[in-house]
Amino acid sequence: MAVGVFDSGLGGLTVYAAVADRLPETAFVYYGDNAHAPYGVRDAEDIFNLTCAGVERLWAEGCDLVILACNTASAAALKRMQETWVPKDKRVLGVFVPMIEALTERKWGDNTPPREVAVKHVALFATPATVASRAFQRELAYRAIGVDVEAQPCGGVVDAIEAGDEILAEALVKSHVEALKRRMPHPEAAILGCTHYPLMQATFQAALGPQVTVYSQANLVAESLADYLTRRPEFAGPGTVSKFLTTGDPASVSAHATQFLRRPIRFEAA
Ligand code: DGL
Repeated sequence: MAVGVFDSGLGGLTVYAAVADRLPETAFVYYGDNAHAPYGVRDAEDIFNLTCAGVERLWAEGCDLVILACNTASAAALKRMQETWVPKDKRVLGVFVPMIEALTERKWGDNTPPREVAVKHVALFATPATVASRAFQRELAYRAIGVDVEAQPCGGVVDAIEAGDEILAEALVKSHVEALKRRMPHPEAAILGCTHYPLMQATFQAALGPQVTVYSQANLVAESLADYLTRRPEFAGPGTVSKFLTTGDPASVSAHATQFLRRPIRFEAA
């Protein structure tokens, strides 16, 4: 059985590492659209078309279920894909909802009306496209009331991470946290709403302070996927081989991925 993991580039590897660890018997095919990263500065139409192309490639690898390990694609394209494009025998799932369920203390499939939750002030750090989509606020409003969300579009962070420039990424994270704190001085929780950002989690936490709970997605998504496959085993696709595909240059993407995950990863051309 094989499951597809899609991202615009390397960020989805944080999700890949968690799901592969949680489900060691499952083959995972990773697709990084590095030739077109970052998605965070593209418009919704462009993100929709690029995401559909990547998902089709994963279907061709025998992955009937694909996780969009990319908040930008989950925010800007997933709803339209599910409503207009995904055939009945396939599934495409995003990374937003598991995180919102954790924040709002809900179990999967709990569709009761929105209610008050403990956390009242939430800082959201995400790409400009994710922030512009307001998808996080929309999904949150289905589940919780009275939560104030302040969103910071973190321009430049994904490019710095994709380029392997940790010093620049750290400086950008600090300045984005400062910008957000000028508008919301005391957030109780912070959402890292981009799958690249767990790599910078220590920098986010240090800049925010120890009193802020930082939520990152990888483990939450892994738990949700394990639960989903238990309930819907028919979507564990027929593929059997794990591999890493990229639309970019396989040699340089492999080198960055190895640095990113701190273990050898070999990409091949998609
Ligand atoms: N890592 C992705 C996300 O979660 C994509 C970032 C981008 O390509 O801009 O949003």
